[in-house]
Amino acid sequence: LAAGESEQIVWQRDEKKVAITFDDGPDAKTTELLLDGLKARKVRATFFVVGENVEKGENAQILREMSADGHLIGNHTYHHVEITRVSDEKAKEEILLTNEAITEITGNEVSYMRPPFGAWQKKLEWELDVMPVMWTIDPLDWTTNNEDEIVNKVVTQAKENDIILLHDCYESSVNAALRIIDILQKEGYEFVTVDELIMN
Ligand code: NI
Repeated sequence: LAAGESEQIVWQRDEKKVAITFDDGPDAKTTELLLDGLKARKVRATFFVVGENVEKGENAQILREMSADGHLIGNHTYHHVEITRVSDEKAKEEILLTNEAITEITGNEVSYMRPPFGAWQKKLEWELDVMPVMWTIDPLDWTTNNEDEIVNKVVTQAKENDIILLHDCYESSVNAALRIIDILQKEGYEFVTVDELIMN
C-alpha cells in the first residue's frame, strides 16, 4: 500500500454517522432557511411532516425542494395526533392521508413515520407497511428559543448512530441545527438520512 491509500482506509473506518431529523413542518417562515443551510453544508436530513402543513398555502413548493435536495420525507400524521388516543380507523386515516399528500407532491412512496409524542401501535407497521422512527437525542428545542442551550444539549451527547430530534417550525431550532451540524462535521461526523442509519 502507498501511504495515501492506507490513510484513506483509516479515514473511512473512523467515519461516524449521525442523522438529524425535523418534525412538525413544513413551515413557510422557517423551513426554506433550513433547506438553504443544509444545502450549503451538503447535508441530507430527514423531515417528518404533518399532512395539513404540507397542504397549507404554498408549502407544496417547499416539499418539492426538500425532495429535490435529497432529503428523506416521512409521515408525522395529518393533524399531529397521538396514535394511541384515537380509534384504529382514525389512526389509519391520519397516516394514509399524509402519505397521499406527500406522494402526490414528490412522486415518492412514504416508508417511514415518526409518531407524534412517540406513541405507536405496533400492528400498524404491517397493516400500513410503515416503519416508525424514534430518536436518541431530544434537546426539547420547542421549550426554549435559547440557541446555545439547544446546541450544547445536542453536541455534548452526540455519538455514533444517534438520531437527533428537532423542529423546523422555530427559527431558534433552525439556527441551532446548522450550528450543531458545523460542530459535529468538524468532529468527523457524517450526516445521513435515517434509512441509511437503520440499514447499516
Ligand atoms: Ni410533533
